[in-house]
Amino acid sequence: MTTKNILDIIYLFASVTFVIGLKMLSGPQTARRGNLWAAFGMTLAVAGTIFLHDGEVASIIYILIGLALAIGSIIGFVAAKKVKMTSMPEMVSLFNGMGGACAALISLLEFHHNVGDPGRIAIIMAGLVIGSVSFSGSIIAFMKLNGTLNKSIRLPNYNFINLIMMIVTVGLAVYVTMSGTESSVLLYGTFALALLYGILFVVPIGGADMPVVISLLNSFTGLAAAFGGFLYDNQVMLTGGILVGSAGTILTLEMCRAMNRPLFNVIFGAFGESAATGASASMHGTIKDISISDAAVLLNYSKKVIIVPGYGLAVAQAQHIIHELELILEERGVQVKYAIHPVAGRMPGHMNVLLAESNVYYGKLSEMDEINPEFASTDVVLVVGANDVVNPAAKTDPASPIYGMPILDVEAAKHIIINKRSMNAGYAGIENQLFYDPKTSMLFGDAKAALTKLVAEIKSL
Ligand code: TAP
Repeated sequence: MTTKNILDIIYLFASVTFVIGLKMLSGPQTARRGNLWAAFGMTLAVAGTIFLHDGEVASIIYILIGLALAIGSIIGFVAAKKVKMTSMPEMVSLFNGMGGACAALISLLEFHHNVGDPGRIAIIMAGLVIGSVSFSGSIIAFMKLNGTLNKSIRLPNYNFINLIMMIVTVGLAVYVTMSGTESSVLLYGTFALALLYGILFVVPIGGADMPVVISLLNSFTGLAAAFGGFLYDNQVMLTGGILVGSAGTILTLEMCRAMNRPLFNVIFGAFGESAATGASASMHGTIKDISISDAAVLLNYSKKVIIVPGYGLAVAQAQHIIHELELILEERGVQVKYAIHPVAGRMPGHMNVLLAESNVYYGKLSEMDEINPEFASTDVVLVVGANDVVNPAAKTDPASPIYGMPILDVEAAKHIIINKRSMNAGYAGIENQLFYDPKTSMLFGDAKAALTKLVAEIKSL
């Protein structure tokens, strides 16, 4: 058996681990192992490529590759260990940008080796444009999410300008491909235009749509990597790229569906502008506080309680104490369920992962469509750090930026307790009429602190 055969087998095995890993990522019980499987496959593929590669490679190259691998692995390991769950979209965005940059650099490097072969130049130019857009777009998304770029920048006629930029960039890439030119000026010109287009593409998109954009850019990076796979005739790069590209596309469309916003609207609609200018309807009614002891009595003597977790639960790291609350209520004979909105939190599956971390039984988590009819027969809904996903304006206020987004129908329950720290708005930046509903009581305070007191109070009853 030749080294080439062994490498092919390693690539095949690695491709299979990617598919298995991806499949296992679809459930929180298996997700961690799925990730490890795919990482194991990737490690094998990288090691195989380095050590079983055809042709002579100077030892300095091995040293450089080893150094790059060590630096990258250390940075990746430390960043992944330190990152807070709520900052995960930022990290995904940054890492995704690095993938795009790699694809673009491969194209820059390979261009001059392939002039005269229009098929390969087409692949190189496609990888260059898509990888560059993904790189600069991801960096802007990262800066928006971590607050470095928190101003809404809007060029006049930005949709028109962006369209022209896209046409010019793609046109230049097509020209370079068709003309057979060797010009470095045109090559780097295309690179610069694609980088600029990535910036202009993401800059006008509102903060609340950023996770959708990150997922879209992720699929671009996958596509760019797949072009690299074509170029090097490397099956594992091709499979990996296609899997990332298709998974990213499915996720993008799923998120749009959950927010009831067409992708076109996300990209061209500039969500957040109307929220920032306060286009929500004015609130009516009064705010009613509830004390810890009253909340404890209400929950303790209920038959059925539904907990609605949101972003604030993750910020407060209150997943363990909420599980304790669930267990103590069940001990007292109360039926407890969790209602999971598809975009609660800041990334897909955020609440599921958070609750799985504290060993909440997965069967207790109900999806929105399944739980919505149950609110009417529920004694108390306890909303913890959620806001937009329970905002009735999505159903009643056509001027609201979240109008049309399916929400959890918590207002149908007999009592609603909302835990948050203040009257501040959620991610969409809009007020919530639910807080003024006569059935609603506000339990102000940090989720972890408030729930800890609540659990202690129920235990004393
Ligand atoms: P949000 O609407 O962002 O509301 C979270 C609430 O938590 C805030 O109003 C905040 O109020 C409260 N909070 C913050 N820290 C807290 C703490 N330590 N203790 C208690 N409460 C705390 O969250 P949501 O309802 O989960 O909605 C998610 C939003 O993200 C939606 O707008 C959604 O469209 C957007 N989004 C999500 C995704 C995915 S995939 N998850 C994708 C795209 C967009 P206070 O400051 O008053 O405490």
